[in-house]
Amino acid sequence: MIRKCLFPVAGYGTRFLPVTKSMPKEMLPVVNKPLVQYGVEEAVDAGLDQIGFVTGRGKRAIADHFDISYELENEIAGTSKEAFLTDIRTLIETTDFSYTRQNHMKGLGHAILSGETLVGNEPFAVVLADDLCLGEDDGVLSQMVKLYRQFRCSIVAIEEVPMDETYKYGVIKGTEMKDGLFRVEDMVEKPAPEDAPSNLAIIGRYILTPDIFDLIKETPPGKNGEVQLTDAILKQAKDGCVLAYKFRGTRFDCGSVDGFIEATNHVYQHVYKAEEAAKKVTPLTASKPDKEAESA
Ligand code: G1P
Repeated sequence: MIRKCLFPVAGYGTRFLPVTKSMPKEMLPVVNKPLVQYGVEEAVDAGLDQIGFVTGRGKRAIADHFDISYELENEIAGTSKEAFLTDIRTLIETTDFSYTRQNHMKGLGHAILSGETLVGNEPFAVVLADDLCLGEDDGVLSQMVKLYRQFRCSIVAIEEVPMDETYKYGVIKGTEMKDGLFRVEDMVEKPAPEDAPSNLAIIGRYILTPDIFDLIKETPPGKNGEVQLTDAILKQAKDGCVLAYKFRGTRFDCGSVDGFIEATNHVYQHVYKAEEAAKKVTPLTASKPDKEAESA
């Protein structure tokens, strides 16, 4: 079954400069959690407990986030503040994190190929953390893992976008097999609206079978001179079968400032406040006064 999930996180995040000058864009906070943690939690909820990061220079904060912080934890031990770390501590204790580096920025296909060493010869998921996805009931990856169990082929998540935005996405053409599930016939990376085969855009959630690695190796640079994952998946679709799945849920494009703010407002109102009301984010009663920890 699928146990592994790759996170390509080597990108520079230039759209958020200057904040991303020395801080990974994946660590930008959406209310009280870094963006990447939402993706990791979605993967773990789907049963994927082996997380692989394809990382790069200047991204060490990600590895530190998914590790124990002895000094900090010692400082706040026994105070109400410990409660703020409960979720991330559980995540760290129940999940394996591995890292490899992408030395050159040669596109998403190249990033995924750099992760081959972490994945080996088994099916795996990919999360692009920029796309923050909130499922309606199940998370988006959980929905896709269920489909994989049934169909055993690569699956890409899709959603309808306005026709004048196709240039931002990989866009598919497919035949609808059943409600919201398409068999892919064509895929184009970031087409102009007049060249787009539909308005069904690929969102940053994939399940891929491991033959994708050899296909990427054969894929020449495409759009913008980069090795495109979309082009390699199209070969898979032509040789066999690839599905595109219109997921149930909402996606925020946190790679753009507008989408990021929208996600922040949504999470604050509908997730954070709800958890606070359910006391999930209220500090526990202190067994040691907070002041002591602060002055220690
Ligand atoms: C990547 C993929 C694209 C996909 C998009 C989803 O593009 O290349 O096919 O639609 O992610 O977010 P990027 O946004 O990294 O340029």
